[in-house]
Amino acid sequence: MIYRAAIFDLDGVLADTARLHLAAWRQVAQELKRPWAEDTSENLKGLERMASLEVILGEERDQFSDREKIDLANTKNRYYQKLIRSLSPIDLLPGAGELLAWLHEKQIPIALASASKNAQAVLQALEISHYFSTIADPEQSAPKPCPDIFLAAAKGLQVEPELCVAFEDAVAGVSAIKAAQGMIAIGVGSENSLRNADYIVCSLEDFNPRDFFLSAIRAADVS
Ligand code: BG6
Ligand code: MG
Repeated sequence: MIYRAAIFDLDGVLADTARLHLAAWRQVAQELKRPWAEDTSENLKGLERMASLEVILGEERDQFSDREKIDLANTKNRYYQKLIRSLSPIDLLPGAGELLAWLHEKQIPIALASASKNAQAVLQALEISHYFSTIADPEQSAPKPCPDIFLAAAKGLQVEPELCVAFEDAVAGVSAIKAAQGMIAIGVGSENSLRNADYIVCSLEDFNPRDFFLSAIRAADVS
């Protein structure tokens, strides 16, 4: 198969920010005196903001009005934005900078498919914005595990979904890729939780782009 484009999730794949989302939610949970179960961190991965709040509120969710929920989500976002102020290129996850640079050098187009409304600020802080031809807008797409944001990213790149390789660290994100019309899912993280992915790597350092994209480069050379 000749893959022609790469689509990345951001938090927990390129950027070491999944832990910052969790830290901000933990602070909100503590203020509400909500318990933090063993699987809460894993369950929150990749979920958009309001869906994450529902997880935090648990069985108490019906005791909060819509207005109160919006206020709590805004509070979490303020905590998160404070935490990302100190981000810099050292907060790229292992292998991320090298992979983006390799793809860019080989002229393989790159898109972002992140649920985060803070994604552009994070890309800038990490100094990787220039690698992305397209940033899919989470406000225009149904949340993961719906495939919409990955399909929007492929459309933005003008590459068929089945010719795109997409990277995710969250169960909901891998499900979104697998529902995206033949797109290939690379799970970044643990085999236990991401077994739905086509391939799993511990980190992007273990992903060899030559295995997926070199044929695209050769085909481009020939044509
Ligand atoms: C995802 C993160 O990328 O973005 C989630 O994995 C986060 O943890 C979601 O909730 C939404 O982010 P934001 O910045 O819009 O609240
Ligand atoms: Mg993620």
